[in-house]
Amino acid sequence: MRKLIPAALAAALFIAACVIKPPDFAASPAAHSQGTADLQLVRLAYIPAPPPAPPAPTAPDPDDITAFSHYIHPNAERYAAYISENPELDLQIAVAYVNAGLDVAFFEDIIDITVPQDWLVLVNKRHSLDKAYVPSDLRPALGSNQQLRTAAALALERMAEQMKQEGMRLFLRSGYRSYNTQRSLYYRPTSSDRYNARPGLSEHQTGLAADVVQMYTSAKIGTLRFEKTPQYEWLLQNAYRYGFILRYPKEYTNITGYSYEPWHWRYVGIHAATKMHSEGVATLEEYYGRYLITPVPVPGK
Ligand code: DAL
Ligand code: ZN
Repeated sequence: MRKLIPAALAAALFIAACVIKPPDFAASPAAHSQGTADLQLVRLAYIPAPPPAPPAPTAPDPDDITAFSHYIHPNAERYAAYISENPELDLQIAVAYVNAGLDVAFFEDIIDITVPQDWLVLVNKRHSLDKAYVPSDLRPALGSNQQLRTAAALALERMAEQMKQEGMRLFLRSGYRSYNTQRSLYYRPTSSDRYNARPGLSEHQTGLAADVVQMYTSAKIGTLRFEKTPQYEWLLQNAYRYGFILRYPKEYTNITGYSYEPWHWRYVGIHAATKMHSEGVATLEEYYGRYLITPVPVPGK
């Protein structure tokens, strides 16, 4: 009997060893001392729950003009009217045009310009300079008898110098024009609103506009021929690097109010000219309506 007890104990231990599986060491360290059933629970508890699926991204609605950074809530009704009259227009551009006042007819409700000295000043058939405005920093430019504001003159000279090194000459035919000079130009019998600005509405009065030509001549040359010159091609590629934009491009007469003028380059500074170039903003009107207005968001947004 004495011997039977250890033998029974040994047999029981043997059976127990066969039935109880060793713990799975691949599971957590805490599982080492657990039985199989517990181990399953521990293992489930240690598998990190997959993160909840992020909500499916909702693409911004390209037709939601209220999401545009240049949306001005008080203009809401004007946007709606302009967009329905111009359904082919890109909505971003349509909103910019309304901000620039292009939904109102030329010469109607003309707005007095308060910042004539700003390089980005918008002067057009709805934005007028005071007749007394004369820029304070005019200086002769490019060896001509014409003046420009200092920044524009220096930029034009640097640009012409580069062109000279590449074998092209550039001359300044007309720069700053006073209100009175513009008045006498406009009231000539040959002038017309399509080609000539009314006094107060010419950006030549800002001292930031330059009519350039490929050769010096005192005679009135057909400036349209400038379009065919390598100088013009060069300016199209490079003028923005010096801060100039083509102010009256082809196909934009209904926006600028003027016929195509390949010779008329407007200084706006390198930052704005580069932005317009890289973003394909064709007119100063569009740039103004996109970037120079104070956004007024939708209430509650
Ligand atoms: N030719 C441009 C539009 C001007 O007269 O200012
Ligand atoms: Zn001009």
